[in-house]
Amino acid sequence: MEGDRPLIICKDKTFYLQTKNSSYIFRVTEHGHLEHIFYGTRLPVQPVDSLCLKRTAVYGSSVLYSQEDPTYCLDNMTLEWSGSGRGDYRHSPAEIRMPDGTFVSDFAYKHYVIKDGCPENCELPLARGVADECQTLIIDLEDPIARISLQLVYCVYMANDVITRRTILTNKSHKEIEVRKLMSLMLDLPDQRFRMTSLHGAWIREGQRQETRLPYGILVLESTTGASSNRQNPAFCLATEDATEDSGHVYGFNLVYSGNHYSAVQKSEQNLVRIMTGINPSGFSWTVKMGEVFSSPEAVLTFSSCGIGGMSRNFHDFINRHIVAPYWQGRNRPVLINSWETFMFDYNQRGLLNLARQASDLGIELFVLDDGWFGQRDHDKAGLGDYEVNRKKIPGGLKPFAEKLNNMGLQFGLWFEPEMINQDSDLYRTHPDFAVKIPGRKPLLGRNQLVLDLTREDVRDYIVTQVGDVLDSAPISYVKWDMNRHISDMYSPLLENQGEFFHRYILGLYEILKRIFLPRPEILLESCSSGGNRFDLGMLCFSPQIWTSDNTDPIERLRIQEGLSLFYPLSTMGAHVSASPHQQTLRTTSLATRFNAACFGCLGYELNLDQLSKQDKQEIKKQIECYKEQRALLQFGSFYRLRSDRTGQIQWQVISADKKNAVVALFQTVASSAPAFDRLYPQSLEPDQTYVLKSFERKLRIRRFGGLVNHISPVKIHPEGVVLRLADQFYSLPGCHETYTATGSQLMAGVMLKNAFNGTGYSEQIRMMGDFDSDIYLIKEVNEHDTKEKDDGKID
Ligand code: GLA
Repeated sequence: MEGDRPLIICKDKTFYLQTKNSSYIFRVTEHGHLEHIFYGTRLPVQPVDSLCLKRTAVYGSSVLYSQEDPTYCLDNMTLEWSGSGRGDYRHSPAEIRMPDGTFVSDFAYKHYVIKDGCPENCELPLARGVADECQTLIIDLEDPIARISLQLVYCVYMANDVITRRTILTNKSHKEIEVRKLMSLMLDLPDQRFRMTSLHGAWIREGQRQETRLPYGILVLESTTGASSNRQNPAFCLATEDATEDSGHVYGFNLVYSGNHYSAVQKSEQNLVRIMTGINPSGFSWTVKMGEVFSSPEAVLTFSSCGIGGMSRNFHDFINRHIVAPYWQGRNRPVLINSWETFMFDYNQRGLLNLARQASDLGIELFVLDDGWFGQRDHDKAGLGDYEVNRKKIPGGLKPFAEKLNNMGLQFGLWFEPEMINQDSDLYRTHPDFAVKIPGRKPLLGRNQLVLDLTREDVRDYIVTQVGDVLDSAPISYVKWDMNRHISDMYSPLLENQGEFFHRYILGLYEILKRIFLPRPEILLESCSSGGNRFDLGMLCFSPQIWTSDNTDPIERLRIQEGLSLFYPLSTMGAHVSASPHQQTLRTTSLATRFNAACFGCLGYELNLDQLSKQDKQEIKKQIECYKEQRALLQFGSFYRLRSDRTGQIQWQVISADKKNAVVALFQTVASSAPAFDRLYPQSLEPDQTYVLKSFERKLRIRRFGGLVNHISPVKIHPEGVVLRLADQFYSLPGCHETYTATGSQLMAGVMLKNAFNGTGYSEQIRMMGDFDSDIYLIKEVNEHDTKEKDDGKID
């Protein structure tokens, strides 16, 4: 990488930001504005005449910046930043009530600094990078009339093709000013017939991919709930018209922020596309007094010429290396069992230990005690705020309980919802003022709870002490940090400007997380907000993984996890195997499919092990063995959303950095009769290297066949009868097994699989692919003598 340095070059007032495969170029104009020149495939550092937007004709109906320069009109330029009220009529990245009372601002270039590494010490979480990984460019702009200065901060991450941007405003005037909008990023690109891909969703339906061709006008993604929300994730991308999953130019954007976000993409009549992202200006107002500073969160950009998949992998790698806390970077995440779907609030120590014992026998590594362990928390109407262990449920307290788990070989994890309070709690009885509410207005409840006022220091201190004391009282190695309602009635008695509430709430949250978890880096934090209601880069700076969704139906998870995988790596997604039929969709799926979807993430189980048959338990044991063997790959490998020849089918792949190992999964959603031939399309293998591709052993549960079982049974069996049910507990049929040895180039040309079941009989040569069935295939590099290895369907 040294040879690629410097990453940031300034020549003739033109700035070149160079990553491994991309260049980002802008320059200072004769009037001091920053003109964006180019963002795309890496180019050499050379004069940019051929790249820049020409200004050779005068446009009618335009306001000139200077009478001496009749073609210089801000409205028709591609800019890095634009003020307002100075002739650019597109959306402005800033709305600031200036010292003169107007909203007119005009920032001009003063100077720049380049530093190695990226800055730390910010109230907001930022991506982390050391000197040999990244460089920072700080451009100082100033509105000379108002004496307000603006720094545009660019961090260039060479290896990941990522550039981050943020904005810092300093009030150097003698009056206070009001910031109503200050975006983290503004970028103008000439349109390339862009399609925008973003994620929309709801509770139990997060991460739904949607694609829109850019219209003239503005497309907005935003959240107003107080969190980044499951409605519209802050991440999105713009792909050129011809871009596919594997080819074409794609620009990805995200924001390191967990509160109300706002992203807007505006296409002008001149086909210039303005992209902005930052804190949502809706209801936002921030007072900046003389000498004070206001900083925006950090925006993250990436460019890939390898399609949407390339963009995803840039983000994945960047998040794993520069967002996730150092202790957890590349560190294995344990296989867990979570008590919630087994017990909800209704449990005692005996039941918990019984679950734990069985979990440990299956190879599970971490026991997570979810909601219900503290105060009067026997239902969701009471107890939030009182993190005193409930002695009726855990008589000896947390320490002896955790030690019992440790003796079984299990780590111990605990659920909290520290940002919330029930009115029926000791905390509320002593401190009703801690809850967010407006004097004279009845506050609204969500899941029977109010929100704690994190803008207040005493509330933050209370949470840090309460949670910290519990964490120090027992060997706790994991925390699930939940947040189960949107914010309403936003008001804090201590704020002079109530428009600051939402952002101060998030700053308060970040401060709390820093105070609790920085001194305890080895605790694995899993963030949750009714599932994926706060799935963002801000939370990922503290919690290496996030509970992706309360929906664990594997077929639903295919859409949710695949959607999120556009912008977030597998290592960030908590994914559990739960009971079937599924509690939200009533869909019946096999244990194999539930595992096959969940193993593309941080695997957990969340179901009553008492209710499983011996067959199920054996199967889970094998799943966990397989997961542990492939864990590094499944959590940190390069992820590919593979092509499939059939609709209703989804194929995924992870491959190791050295390309020696890969796992491919084929999921069928709804089966079709007379099925066509199925092919796998692995990617990114070494073309000349030889590999063995093997299907992972799948057992077929005989009950699944119903009356069809009579075709192979010597005695007549009633499909609904007790005999079949009993037999199902103990016997299963072997599934189809396939092994192919070939070079990477041959496998990538498409692996023709054995025929799928079509109603003409069962045999071990037929892949049983009914509704919601799936298979996983393991690909391993081999050398000559290995190719003679045994063909037993087992994983080596
Ligand atoms: C939320 C979470 C669940 C569970 C419950 C407990 O809904 O998403 O996983 O922790 O809270 O109340």
